[in-house]
Amino acid sequence: MPLPEVAGLETIGADIWQAFARRLRAIGFDLEGVQRLDGATQALARPLRRPMRLWQLRRSTEPLALAMRALMFDDGIPEADARAALTGELVDRLLPGGYLRRREGALVSPFLLNVVEDLLVVTDALMPGGDAVMGAGPTTIALCAASIPTARLGSALELGCGAGTAAILLARHAERVVGTDVNPRAITLARVNAALNGVTNLELLVGDWLAPVAGRTFDLVVCQPPFVARPAARPAATYMYGGHRGDEVALTLLGELDRHRSPRGRAVFFVEWPELSADSFVDRVRAAIGPTDRLLIVRAPSVSLLEHCTEYAANEHPELGEAFERSAIERREHLEALEIRALRPTLTVVAREPAGPAWTAVVDAAPFAHVRPSGVRIAKILAARELLARDDDDALLATTLRVPKRTVVTEERAEPSPSAPKKLTMRPPSTALAPSAELNEATLQLISLIHGASSPASAIDFLVKSAGAPPKMARQQILAVARMGLESGLLQVDAT
Ligand SMILES: C[S@@+](CC[C@H](N)C(=O)[O-])C[C@H]1O[C@@H](n2cnc3c(N)ncnc32)[C@H](O)[C@@H]1O
Repeated sequence: MPLPEVAGLETIGADIWQAFARRLRAIGFDLEGVQRLDGATQALARPLRRPMRLWQLRRSTEPLALAMRALMFDDGIPEADARAALTGELVDRLLPGGYLRRREGALVSPFLLNVVEDLLVVTDALMPGGDAVMGAGPTTIALCAASIPTARLGSALELGCGAGTAAILLARHAERVVGTDVNPRAITLARVNAALNGVTNLELLVGDWLAPVAGRTFDLVVCQPPFVARPAARPAATYMYGGHRGDEVALTLLGELDRHRSPRGRAVFFVEWPELSADSFVDRVRAAIGPTDRLLIVRAPSVSLLEHCTEYAANEHPELGEAFERSAIERREHLEALEIRALRPTLTVVAREPAGPAWTAVVDAAPFAHVRPSGVRIAKILAARELLARDDDDALLATTLRVPKRTVVTEERAEPSPSAPKKLTMRPPSTALAPSAELNEATLQLISLIHGASSPASAIDFLVKSAGAPPKMARQQILAVARMGLESGLLQVDAT
């Protein structure tokens, strides 16, 4: 299927795109509205959802449902309905540029309108492959959530920005943002999306990865590189394939970032790393970035080869016929031959500090579709690991440490008797990226004490002055529990 022409989109002025965004918001075209009309099919596997989603939308005559059909589902609506939902004036402005088109007496957009947080993002549908610009699905959303910095930045870069979703979000948090992509079509859609979302501090450049930003450095570099392994017979798709094994592009980029990061510059990559029988992907990443940077990998549970091959084949051939079967089997055979056992979705974070030893940390998370690790949380983990790596007791004792908000403690007894042995468990919320831990009563009390004190040093004071503990023992206990807490995530550095 040929891709729709994008050149005409650039003839539609920024004022029209903004008027279009205002109209969409006025009819409730936002995350809440879209979920309200499109939520019921979530229980189905993705390739199976379309008919029931359409059925649901076609029953409604509200402007939002009509707009969703024409703009998100490639489902033509009568022109009179389109004019009522979007206004006649906007329809007349969007038709000549090719954002809307007439098809069999109906009006429809050949593009896909996505809603990400409060952004509207125009992309291609994925089926055509080739230079199609990928939609803002769960992986893009995970990258966006993890990329948001805790403080305003001078500069940020999105490599391979596609439709520009993360770059547009970052434009709210940085003075200057650059997005690069080798695919001119992606850069055109990213320009449309910048206009649609009223962003003016985003520079969009066509070119091969870092070539368009030669000699420039950034406080933050974010990227979701293509990371799928390419079987030789599969047709090219710019957004998808990261090499024969899949991780070649990601590893090369991570290795080349050094000269493009400012002195404390950070990189946040969303990558599904292939898990090989022979080695660990963590070692591959460490080898790529070299020995001096900090490396934090937040990993979701592995995706099985069954799921991976089926999902990518279904994206390619949503009609789920013979071509779908061929693609899925070819992918499975390719991964088998490479001894890839599974795919591991990760947020791979590379950070640089002016002093202190390098470290590597791997943190487990729930599937990113359920829990999106936020930039704030990632900053807290980086701060904890940095404090531990400094191995400086005085610094540790002076830092305010807190239990993650909404952590609960449960007490279980084998029998309903106060004398039965009890099990105490601390359960941080899944957003804290810290596992539940069974603790003895003394450790739990020390964690509570540290949490309630302005610093672990004050907790030692309390133990000595109010509980009469010997100073040396109090210090040793508090230091040990503070370290264990930071390592496990049960304690986090406050105010990062
Ligand atoms: C997986 S998509 C991610 C798109 C977007 N960042 C997102 O998260 O939605 C990978 C992107 O890398 C781009 N890309 C592929 N090869 C590239 C290259 N050699 N130089 C720059 N960008 C490239 C693709 O065009 C595509 O937009």
